[in-house]
Amino acid sequence: MTTTDSSLDGLPLVMAIETSCDETAVAIVAGAYRLIASEVASQISLHQPFGGVVPEVASRSHLTQLKPLIGRALDSAGIPIERIDMFAATSGPGLATSLMLGTAVAKGLSVGLRKPYLAVNHLEGHLLSPFFGAGNDVEPCIALVVSGGHTLLVKLDEVGKYEVLGRTRDDAAGEAFDKVGKLLQLPYPAGPHIDRLAVGGDRKRYDFPRSMLHSGDFNFSFSGLKTSVRYMLPKLEGASIHDICASFQEAIVDVLVLKTIAAAQAENRRVIAISGGVSCNSRLRERFQQACDETGIRLLLAAPALCTDNAAMIAAVAAQKFTRGESSSLATDIDPNLKLV
Ligand code: KG4
Ligand code: ZN
Repeated sequence: MTTTDSSLDGLPLVMAIETSCDETAVAIVAGAYRLIASEVASQISLHQPFGGVVPEVASRSHLTQLKPLIGRALDSAGIPIERIDMFAATSGPGLATSLMLGTAVAKGLSVGLRKPYLAVNHLEGHLLSPFFGAGNDVEPCIALVVSGGHTLLVKLDEVGKYEVLGRTRDDAAGEAFDKVGKLLQLPYPAGPHIDRLAVGGDRKRYDFPRSMLHSGDFNFSFSGLKTSVRYMLPKLEGASIHDICASFQEAIVDVLVLKTIAAAQAENRRVIAISGGVSCNSRLRERFQQACDETGIRLLLAAPALCTDNAAMIAAVAAQKFTRGESSSLATDIDPNLKLV
């Protein structure tokens, strides 16, 4: 029998399930944001032989992982499932069959235990993660979400009030890392490998394009950068992989830093919040810190554990909405192409 931690008495508890892509994750949050359990089962090794995520493999793995992960989350929180006040799940964007599994399980628990259900937008989870991880309240800022599927520059006023200032026209920043990594024969996902290989490399050795750097808007384009690496590679026989990675990474980071700072200045915002898998990147974190220090802007970076996909960020959004009395109808469907706004 579980003995519930008495410091949780009276606090609402929200369980969230995240299955939008290739991580199966379950988290429990107490109150507005006290993370009491966060379990993530990565499927990277299952997809690695294919060089990318295979949807059928992803959903089959979610199916086997979800039940044990829910059990582990409850054990580590030290609570029985009956104590949960709301069940939430990511309803989009993501892979359809993967989203269906996570939402179906959350809806089933909600019906079985007679508790409300909430559908959460994965992008909102990333967007707000720099605040919750640091235990801060959400405040007006310019937010950059850089993940494997998305590159979004957002004017954020408060929870639920967002304006998209710019997005990628083609590949997402993480997709560019992964595609260039594939060209360099690095394992999937290549972002962390490029990050590591770039250390000590010459960032100025190759002048890769900084697309749309001076386009006068806040949109991005990374497919030209990938093409440029592809055409250059045959000429780089014998070149240092460290120099190639450092130069490529610098090109992406240059554009992200310049456009985000420009957006903060144009919108007169003194806070920048950065999230998504690519925000794990060590050079990105360093360059944003330098640029923010120089311009007197406060930088909030998502904690590394909250950068890549996880359920803690989904539970955090759900907890905010639960305290406002919000919930979703059980008829709410998944939406693989769900937009932030
Ligand atoms: O947020 P995330 O886990 O999934 C999506 O919602 O897409 O992001 C995954 C992406 C992958 O493209 C991966 O290569 C990239 O984040 N990534 C990195 C690093 N760690 C993960 N990219 C660059 N440097 C890193 N250290
Ligand atoms: Zn994500």
